[in-house]
Amino acid sequence: RPRVLSGIQPTADSFHLGNYLGAVRNWVAMQETHDAYYCVVDLHAITMGHDPIALRNRTRISAAQLLALGLDPERCTLFVQSHVPEHAQLGWVLSCITGFGEAGRMVQFKDKSAKAADTTTVGLFTYPILQAADILLYQADQVPVGEDQRQHLELTRDLAQRFNTRYGPTFRVPSAFILRDTAKITDLQDPTAKMSKSASSPNGIIELLEEPARSAKKIKSAVTDTGREILYDEENKPGVSNLLTIYAALTMRTIDELLEQYDGRGYGDLKKDLAEIVVEFVKPVQERTRAYLEDPGYLDKVLAIGAEKARAVASVTLAEAYQNVGFLSPA
Ligand code: TYM
Repeated sequence: RPRVLSGIQPTADSFHLGNYLGAVRNWVAMQETHDAYYCVVDLHAITMGHDPIALRNRTRISAAQLLALGLDPERCTLFVQSHVPEHAQLGWVLSCITGFGEAGRMVQFKDKSAKAADTTTVGLFTYPILQAADILLYQADQVPVGEDQRQHLELTRDLAQRFNTRYGPTFRVPSAFILRDTAKITDLQDPTAKMSKSASSPNGIIELLEEPARSAKKIKSAVTDTGREILYDEENKPGVSNLLTIYAALTMRTIDELLEQYDGRGYGDLKKDLAEIVVEFVKPVQERTRAYLEDPGYLDKVLAIGAEKARAVASVTLAEAYQNVGFLSPA
């Protein structure tokens, strides 16, 4: 079985629809076909300033949501990044083969640091190198992510190749797995921007754990485009196209089928139906999330077993990397 690894940050009280459709949905599918490792990346979540109590809570909520969305601990390895110290250890080694200018070209770093220049940390700068370590430790073949992670995946490939060339074959060179249709779910209020935990306004983002009536309202007040016809046209009708994308993904239907169904009907009909579909989707997810959170013993056990399985793989890779880079092994 090919190996897959991906991660998600516990930086909010809820994941949003973009996280699910762009990434987690594919994680769920790939646990059936791949040797799958999925990680709540708490080390990445402290790069922009955080509250310790909120972080701990959000880490639990993240794990509970992943289970509620369909990850099955019998079919995949679900773990918390800080439980596996090898991530930070390999991150250091990789940071020593990354160019300063190379890291400075990461657009997520440029965007985020431009917005908060005086509070930008070194951790935010080296963030993508730690992400490379996450991936390379597991010798992943594929990394299911949204479009916004493509550049980080390119860096990961470059670092793997560079290390292998300099110090001998050590890492598998992974590819990004990005499904075109759902790679960039956009902001409901600003449909040319991605739906984002940090950048979207509250009405632009559907949080999986928010009151379902609130989600319905947001869908109904989503910014659509001038004209009345329901067409899929990302250039000229980004708002309607985004709603169609979400609709198709949640109902497993094609855009063409939807266009036929809504032929001659208005935006209002489409929004009303989609609002209902979203509500029906989130309700059971919320119930299951709540149930997992009410059983912390189970959650802790899942994460402990996950960490142990992850470490078994990560420690082998780290030992090889240490050996190849020339560290003296302890007697
Ligand atoms: P994060 O936590 O920001 O997002 C988790 C996943 O959701 C995807 N995503 C989207 N997909 C489609 N449309 C959107 N609007 C949208 N918003 C977010 C992201 O692409 C991501 O796949 N750096 C990563 C976390 C990470 C990681 C890793 C990922 C750390 N180590 C190793 C893969 C492998 C991040 O910040 O994701």
